[in-house]
Amino acid sequence: MSKPRLEGKVALVTGAASGIGEEAVRLFAENGAFIVVADVQDDLGHQVVASIGSEKISYHHCDVRDEKQVEETVNYTLEKYGSLDILFSNAGVIGPLNSILELDINGFDNTMATNVRGVASTIKHGARAMVARKIRGSIICTASVAACIGGAGPHGYTTSKHALVGLVRSACQELGAHGIRVNCISPFGIATPLACGAYNLEPSQVESNTCAVANLKGIVLKAKHVAEAALFLASDESAYISGHNLPVDGGFSVVNHSLSAM
Ligand SMILES: NC(=O)c1ccc[n+]([C@@H]2O[C@H](COP(=O)([O-])OP(=O)(O)OC[C@H]3O[C@@H](n4cnc5c(N)ncnc54)[C@H](O)[C@@H]3O)[C@@H](O)[C@H]2O)c1
Repeated sequence: MSKPRLEGKVALVTGAASGIGEEAVRLFAENGAFIVVADVQDDLGHQVVASIGSEKISYHHCDVRDEKQVEETVNYTLEKYGSLDILFSNAGVIGPLNSILELDINGFDNTMATNVRGVASTIKHGARAMVARKIRGSIICTASVAACIGGAGPHGYTTSKHALVGLVRSACQELGAHGIRVNCISPFGIATPLACGAYNLEPSQVESNTCAVANLKGIVLKAKHVAEAALFLASDESAYISGHNLPVDGGFSVVNHSLSAM
């Protein structure tokens, strides 16, 4: 039997009550981590913890738009498990789908407040905890294919995910001096509540739509595939990888699809 890849490590996962975050919690737990599940959906968050049923996992309410709640959640993690080795800053919203000509500016602000300012707060307080304890931690954020190209999501969402890649690169520079790695993951479309809710589609419809335009055929992207990438970046197997944006998109963001019919 090989050693669990996160044995004894402490992880804080935001947006952990559903979708990619939930799958990451399950995988991190299987790999021996202590985990704080943080989200705004309290009932779902408690259900995730109960379904794993481990002494090593607990739920804490955290709206990442509120810096105080982020700070409290980091402090809760430190008090509960005595460390913070892994921050998976994954919470995000897709925001309004309007045309740029009808841009919903308040909706745009909320998308930025969650997807950029919220992640910045988690990096600030997570990294403070790591630096103060001399922990060579791993910080992982969830960006998107919409961080790599235009047209893969609504305007506010695309803007926020591009900004997130900039934040990851900037934080990686300063935190490198402390041995802390900062990376992000950029998934293609997955049938989570975020994607299904935005387009008012059933999971099977989201999957058939994404498969129809996907570059890599014969496989349906699942939240578990993204969680596997997060596990790699969280573990010591990625010990020298920092500042990286890892697309989990089957090559979608590096291919010009308009040429494929030629
Ligand atoms: N599903 C996709 O197609 C896709 C593709 C690329 C990137 N992503 C990104 O993946 C991440 C996870 O999304 P998902 O697809 O698993 O969707 P999801 O809706 O299943 O999960 C998102 C979670 O974030 C939580 N959340 C939202 N706002 C929050 C806030 N202010 N504070 C704390 N938690 C909050 C939600 O309650 C939810 O549990 C997001 O950052 C999203 O942008 C998703």
